[in-house]
Amino acid sequence: RKKTAVLISGRGSNMGALISAAMDPNYPAEIALVLSNRPDAKGLERAVEFGIPTAVVDHHDFSGDREAFERAVDAVLKDRKIDLVALAGFMRILTPYLVNSWSGRMINIHPALLPSFKGLATHERALEEGVKVHGATVHFVSAEMDDGPIIIQGAVPVLDADTPDSLAARVLKVEHTIYPKALKLIASGKTKIADSRVLSGNPDLEETPEL
Ligand code: GAR
Repeated sequence: RKKTAVLISGRGSNMGALISAAMDPNYPAEIALVLSNRPDAKGLERAVEFGIPTAVVDHHDFSGDREAFERAVDAVLKDRKIDLVALAGFMRILTPYLVNSWSGRMINIHPALLPSFKGLATHERALEEGVKVHGATVHFVSAEMDDGPIIIQGAVPVLDADTPDSLAARVLKVEHTIYPKALKLIASGKTKIADSRVLSGNPDLEETPEL
């Protein structure tokens, strides 16, 4: 099983979904570490309840030097012999240092159907734009923020009565189903990247539709 670190900054509900999936001994990844850049992240308490080792690398300790912060994170990951990194609400912009160090081995979940709505406040902006379909994306991390080859997406309808909160809640449910599927695909080595696309067979399809 691939030793996987989940990086969080807050609540950690996606972290919880990954830990739950990895409780199945047949799941190809084990959650070997939860690392937070915030000592008060709620998700750390949940990780401890699950019996998962935790670590904190507080970005405030590096006086704005992003790369020094990342070198410290990288050192913890290497020390724990981590194979794969899953960002789950890890609210730090990454420099090329960490991205290159984990190229092809670091994935992220973003609460929008990329390449639409990169960045923050995705649900507010989806409502402002009046899109009728919204969702979440799991992708490999590349040098550009919220970019990189897409592994899985999950879509939800946008309803007339939606608020950012109600839409966020609908998307979050989808996040909790697609993130474990994406990590399973990557950890089992069933994907390959060609021309910046992840080829996996679409795991949500029972059979391939006719062309
Ligand atoms: C999730 O909705 C995740 O997609 C989002 O933060 C939330 C974390 O929730 N990530 C980003 O916005 C990354 N830019 P969680 O801590 O409960 O998993």
